[in-house]
Amino acid sequence: MKRTVSSFKEAKQKGQRLTMLTAYDYSMAKLIDEAGIDGILVGDSLGMVALGYENTLSVTVDDMVHHIKAVARGAKNALIVGDMPFLSYHISIEESIKNAGRLIQEGGCHAVKLEGGIEVLDKVKAIIKAQIPVMGHIGLTPQSVNMLGGFKVQGKTKESIKKLIDDAKYLEDAGVFAIVLEAVPDEVAKLITESISIPTIGIGAGKYCDGQILVVNDMLGLFSDFVPKFVKKYRNLGDEIKGAIKEYIEEVRRGDFPEDSHSFKIDKDIVEEIKR
Ligand code: KIV
Ligand code: NA
Repeated sequence: MKRTVSSFKEAKQKGQRLTMLTAYDYSMAKLIDEAGIDGILVGDSLGMVALGYENTLSVTVDDMVHHIKAVARGAKNALIVGDMPFLSYHISIEESIKNAGRLIQEGGCHAVKLEGGIEVLDKVKAIIKAQIPVMGHIGLTPQSVNMLGGFKVQGKTKESIKKLIDDAKYLEDAGVFAIVLEAVPDEVAKLITESISIPTIGIGAGKYCDGQILVVNDMLGLFSDFVPKFVKKYRNLGDEIKGAIKEYIEEVRRGDFPEDSHSFKIDKDIVEEIKR
């Protein structure tokens, strides 16, 4: 069944938990989609996971478009959300709409995600007015890593908790269809989830959110540069892959691969004739 921003909102009303994962390429998007996920985020985490940067700040709109295109070709049913990268929605309303439009028009995602609350409200409203659905993202917002002084849990003081709840309400009023809550205490996520009628999608935000999201490379054990506490490794595919590659290297060196079954054959007579 095709997921839409409306089905996301309805899920909360029906008390159905939403599932999301990130993806950055065609093959992974296809696997995730076929497994029955509700939503795929082409996150700017691709900067770390797919491009090897230290953080998300170097990711460009062109990078996002490139990867969103691949994911959009692989996913048939999931709602595809594309991250707006650093500085693509900070300069002006005009640029924000143009960049959001590129992710939709060139990339082929269904919605965009922006980090921040009240600070980005004018941009959020303008993008929604341009008929582009927006997902919010508050709590730990990795594009602000240099302002936050690192990747730290947010919402630990009374003032910051109040600000998170206010931000969530402002975003809901602005018309966003869902909000990612990243790295906040579970009870804070509960307060936020209970104070808005659109779904909260948690990552490191505990069990009271309306849905969950993880970086797919983290949960599959494909990325080990940095694994946050909130990640559950469902598989250790990194080790699986290394094992398979070592086997390949050994077999090639020993002459055990390729076998006849992997080889193309022609008539022996022709070979003999050429040798003559
Ligand atoms: O870029 C990303 O992967 C994200 C999720 C962690 C929410 O923003
Ligand atoms: Na992101």
